[in-house]
Amino acid sequence: MNKLILVTGGTGYIGSHTVVELMNEGFDVIIIDNLSNSDKSVLDGIAEITGRRPYFEQFDICDNERLNNFLKVYKKLDGIIHFAAYKAVGESVGKPLMYYQNNLISLMNLLNGMIEYNVHNIVFSSSCTVYGEPDELPVTEKAPIKIANSPYGNTKQISEEIIKDTISVNPKLKAIALRYFNPIGAHPSAQIGELPLGIPDNLVPFITQTAIGIRNELKVFGDDYNTPDGTAIRDYINVVDLAKAHVVSVKRMLDDNCKSNFEFFNLGTGKGFSVLEVVNAFEKATGEKLKYKIVNRREGDAEAVYADTKFANKELGWKAKIGLEETLLSAWNWEKNIQNKK
Ligand code: NAD
Ligand code: WQD
Repeated sequence: MNKLILVTGGTGYIGSHTVVELMNEGFDVIIIDNLSNSDKSVLDGIAEITGRRPYFEQFDICDNERLNNFLKVYKKLDGIIHFAAYKAVGESVGKPLMYYQNNLISLMNLLNGMIEYNVHNIVFSSSCTVYGEPDELPVTEKAPIKIANSPYGNTKQISEEIIKDTISVNPKLKAIALRYFNPIGAHPSAQIGELPLGIPDNLVPFITQTAIGIRNELKVFGDDYNTPDGTAIRDYINVVDLAKAHVVSVKRMLDDNCKSNFEFFNLGTGKGFSVLEVVNAFEKATGEKLKYKIVNRREGDAEAVYADTKFANKELGWKAKIGLEETLLSAWNWEKNIQNKK
């Protein structure tokens, strides 16, 4: 019988790509999502790619009674991948309680449910934001956790602590926290991708929206960093590569290959690109000219962040493979596809 995985936030950006990879690998998938930051039509995209429609329930995981009723019915879950959370760093500064409430209560409800209903494995979406402005590059998993510079970042740090403390007294539970660097791009079919609401905060959706004419120009935040071209450096990882790491992590837990009950891994490419390098790669990959201007630095931005991926590569037997230009082209094809559908 196929293994059954619950994916919370499975109609979201990273969740939907992971559902596709899980289904491609023969897993059965149930999605719970309250559609607070995604659309039900994502299920059509998943079905288009995989030829199967995942089972979907729409509710808020902060609703503990509803979650427990669900877990009572689906007693045979082999594992959970927990994506559901709010993720906008800037918004979290203005609405801290909304972030603490959603991101922490959902996790605590799930962990309680796992204990009550004997679900043993959870993969948790963490973030490179837990490292803040790193002292050393590339960033290894041993880098110190810095005081979070946003309530959002703090929810990821606290979540990791909550998982660690819960596992220490519930030895049947296993967790893997995956610390993503900068996920970008879309599925090569252009059937699923990122669907930002309003003006995007993140670089790549802003680039694609500018190139297609929704935005006038990209503002490059700062060219006075201590980097070769003065713009900030990040580790941009293709979302399909990222999704595959979740499948590998689930299998690692199911095959009992974990070295400890709580493991965490960096998910990046190991290579940093500056904002202007991303702009140039986008132009080269798509043949589009991008209008941009240099403006002041964005408050709270780090100068350079990129992952040391050796530990994840070795332990998980996983490596990000898709290059920057191919990834940016996938984001562009997705952008064109969404605009065509409107
Ligand atoms: P997303 O907003 O596209 O997906 C999250 C999904 O969770 C959405 O579909 C939303 O409707 C749902 N959701 C939110 N709260 C919920 C709740 N209480 N109950 C049920 N559903 C709920 O975000 P994403 O980019 O796919 O991110 C997924 C996870 O990865 C998040 O935990 C995020 O913090 C983390 N992460 C994202 C990035 C990034 O740059 N995208 C980087 C690092 C970590
Ligand atoms: C990338 C680079 C900007 C927009 C955020 C979160 C992090 C993680 C990933 C969740 C930076 C520059 C951006 C623009 C620009 N998410 N930029 N003009 O800030 O590295 O990381 O997403 O966990 O926690 O903080 O990503 O895409 O916003 O920015 O010049 O319009 O692009 O200054 O150097 P960031 P980003």
